[in-house]
Amino acid sequence: MRVKDYQAILKAAAEVLGGAIHVVDADGITILYNEEMATLEKINVSDALGKPFREIFSSIPEEESTLLAALRYKKPTLNQEQTYLNAYGKEIAVINSTVPIIVDGKVVAAMEVAKDITDIKNMSDTILDLQSDLFTAEDDAQEDSEQRPRRSKKAGIKKYHFDDIAGKSIAFEEVLARAKKASRNDVTVLINGETGTGKELFAQSIHYDGLRKKGPFLAQNCAAIPESLLEGMLFGTAKGGFTGAEDRAGLFEQANGGTLLLDEVSAMPYGLQGKLLRVLQEEYIRRVGGDRDIPVDVRIIATINEPAEKLIEEGRLRKDLYFRLGIVRLQIPPLRDRKSDIPILVDEFLKKYNDRFDKQVWMVSDKAMSKLMDYDYPGNIRELENVIMGAVSMADDEHVLTEDDISIGGSYKGANTGIAGFTSGNSKLADYLEDIEKTLIGQQLMANDGNVSQTARDLGMLRQNLQHKIRKYGL
Ligand SMILES: Nc1ncnc2c1ncn2[C@@H]1O[C@H](COP(=O)(O)OP(=O)(O)OP(=O)(O)O)[C@@H](O)[C@H]1O
Ligand SMILES: [Mg+2]
Repeated sequence: MRVKDYQAILKAAAEVLGGAIHVVDADGITILYNEEMATLEKINVSDALGKPFREIFSSIPEEESTLLAALRYKKPTLNQEQTYLNAYGKEIAVINSTVPIIVDGKVVAAMEVAKDITDIKNMSDTILDLQSDLFTAEDDAQEDSEQRPRRSKKAGIKKYHFDDIAGKSIAFEEVLARAKKASRNDVTVLINGETGTGKELFAQSIHYDGLRKKGPFLAQNCAAIPESLLEGMLFGTAKGGFTGAEDRAGLFEQANGGTLLLDEVSAMPYGLQGKLLRVLQEEYIRRVGGDRDIPVDVRIIATINEPAEKLIEEGRLRKDLYFRLGIVRLQIPPLRDRKSDIPILVDEFLKKYNDRFDKQVWMVSDKAMSKLMDYDYPGNIRELENVIMGAVSMADDEHVLTEDDISIGGSYKGANTGIAGFTSGNSKLADYLEDIEKTLIGQQLMANDGNVSQTARDLGMLRQNLQHKIRKYGL
């Protein structure tokens, strides 16, 4: 086999195993540098290949380079956690293994394989830091003024109030009235509804139109973060609690005086559900690894998206916690059970997206409305909103959307990609498959309002994997 063949094999192996890979020859010249490494370090493959290592990474001190250590001292580095700056100055964290490649006693090359753990390492820290920053950055005074923006987009976070919630069906009015009542007191609320029914909207409205509106509103999806990090995330960590732990306040402390939304609370490990119950009863928390009880005053709103009985029966939700959380229970009906709300919602979304896209769509035709009414909306209001958003964004000068402008159902079934466009003459299979992958991920992300965790679940892939693809495709 030629050298090139070996390189191809190595590259394929790295792709299958999912690592970023960098190989230098005995002179420190880069002979292999794969796309994943390029994505990680923000260096073009073509800029790295054939260049001396020292030239590309002039900022890394020689003694810290694991590749050079492998070449010079035949010294392997295995599973070492490293943090360094990539070409854009962004800090990245990797688990790095570097080995010298020795043939007949001589070092002929060195190979580095890195796994990006930036997301995992930073996830809980970043969320905690961001949330505390966000809250301090908010201008409370503005809240009371007449001109408060209905949906403040400060720092990208929307704030919802009850008057943002549209719907007049009897079933919906009932749950809305209960939610309004709940906003006037301070008890825990358990919201149950399928995806996209407006649980977050309700939770925020209860907070921002309620007694605690001056306090922080924080939200955590319990399914979105690895179980091992969730406890520290909620209750904080104390120095020395476990290796590398820092003193850090958790969400309970950060939400003090305000509201904490625990989304998909049934995804919380069973043991942790017990701890949560204790915190709710005793009103103090203890940081992970700490020995001090810290009093907290937080209103909890929790959500589930499957029937409570089912969750309890399957051992996913503790019965005692369920009773403690569900002092007030709100059951938001799916859109298919209150279709009379569709025209009202359509009107709301037309207004919203006319504004956003600077269009003049006044209404939808009768046929278009029938099409909208006939559909069952597994993605509920979020899905309806995306349909209208798509139609308005594509409108030219027309004032009335017709049946043909309404494209419905596709993104939820992963349909409408078609494979008719592939001809081996003008594109490689791999490129073509990437195109399809990009399209499907893009569609599902849109359908989920950019929610990465939900999209990963819908597509049956790991969240980190999805995040990598999102970066790769620039979505
Ligand atoms: N009654 C409503 N009136 C207007 N817009 C709504 C209503 N309900 C939901 N929406 C819109 O639908 C989208 C989804 O709502 P939300 O995020 O509250 O759903 P959710 O129940 O929390 O979903 P998930 O379970 O996937 O987290 C949002 O963009 C929101 O603006
Ligand atoms: Mg939600």
